[in-house]
Amino acid sequence: MKFETAAIHAGQEADPRTGAVVPPIYQVSTFKQDGVGGLRAGYEYARSGNPTRDALEECLAALENGTRAFATASGLAAEDLLLRTVLRPGDHLVVPTDAYGGSYRLFARVLEPWGVKHTAVDQSDLDAVRAAIVPGKTKVIWTESPTNPLLSISDIAELAKIAHAVDALLVVDNTFASPYLQRPLELGADAVVHSTTKYLGGHSDVIGGAIVVRDDKLAEQIAYNHNAMGPIAGPFDSWLVLRGAKTLAVRMDRHCQNARAIVDFLVAHDRVSEVRYPGLVTHPGHEIAKRQMRDFGGMVSFRVRGGIEAALQVCKRVELFTLAESLGGVESLIEHPAKMTHASVAGSALEVPDDLIRLSVGLEHIDDLIADLANALN
Ligand SMILES: Cc1ncc(COP(=O)(O)O)c(C=O)c1O
Repeated sequence: MKFETAAIHAGQEADPRTGAVVPPIYQVSTFKQDGVGGLRAGYEYARSGNPTRDALEECLAALENGTRAFATASGLAAEDLLLRTVLRPGDHLVVPTDAYGGSYRLFARVLEPWGVKHTAVDQSDLDAVRAAIVPGKTKVIWTESPTNPLLSISDIAELAKIAHAVDALLVVDNTFASPYLQRPLELGADAVVHSTTKYLGGHSDVIGGAIVVRDDKLAEQIAYNHNAMGPIAGPFDSWLVLRGAKTLAVRMDRHCQNARAIVDFLVAHDRVSEVRYPGLVTHPGHEIAKRQMRDFGGMVSFRVRGGIEAALQVCKRVELFTLAESLGGVESLIEHPAKMTHASVAGSALEVPDDLIRLSVGLEHIDDLIADLANALN
């Protein structure tokens, strides 16, 4: 089944009882048993399993070409569930120097006190990744590609080889690309995590996350902890993400098209000192991105001349771009990573330049978006 078809049909049979063509929202906590242990459709308690969540999980597994998916309450809940399933105190993980700030906070402030150390390296440098491995201790290489907010690219297939050579897992945060643009499991990754809050949900109306894997043993371990730790996605949130996923392909095509036009505008603008976008031939990861992605995505970061004050002015002067954290929705957003999404990494190896602006390019008409940026920059 092709991607667009799976997005609409995987896990989404018409409801057997009523014929409803969309999976119903099973807003319920428990299921009647016909005698002790007599489950009607395998469901007993909605933390352990819920039909709406199952529908989403089946769809996500199909979209990432995995075998099992686990829908969680947020992207960070997915990360925590996965990492505390596969790591033990004393283990070590290798992470990118520009991971999402919240992921870094999880590594540094939650996992480290639990006894798991990490090393942050520029993962576009594979020798640096190899050098960061602690023999016998490194159990996970964590990567984002493209990264948030610098849009760096790492070579997923090569990182998988490095991880597997030391019996570690490669985990890819695929939030920025979405499964439509990039399928890490096909490139050798062991697990994919998502903030489904972003492109998969697509409408800035839900917080959610997911893990997708292929290996049965890993799936069993995560399934056990999904229930035992309980960071599940609720039925209405699952339904919203499933509804978003149906249009992911067409939305991503337009996000990419609009982003490309904005990149062309910014590159030519004399108040812009640098544009970060993996679709630019001058981007150091362009060739790898071309190989492992279908297109280059809807996120664009750029630096303005005049330092932090100039960057903050642009964020203030836009009218159509909404100043807000998050990304991947139909509406265009602008943010200042150093003071907003990445404030938690100030002073660490993951600190970002303070003249950097990040755009989540939405689906409005491109002429309106460019006019808004032109006005804010001039
Ligand atoms: C790349 C990336 N990963 C993970 C997350 C965390 O997701 P959530 O906010 O759904 O917990 C985010 C949130 O911004 C993100 O951008």
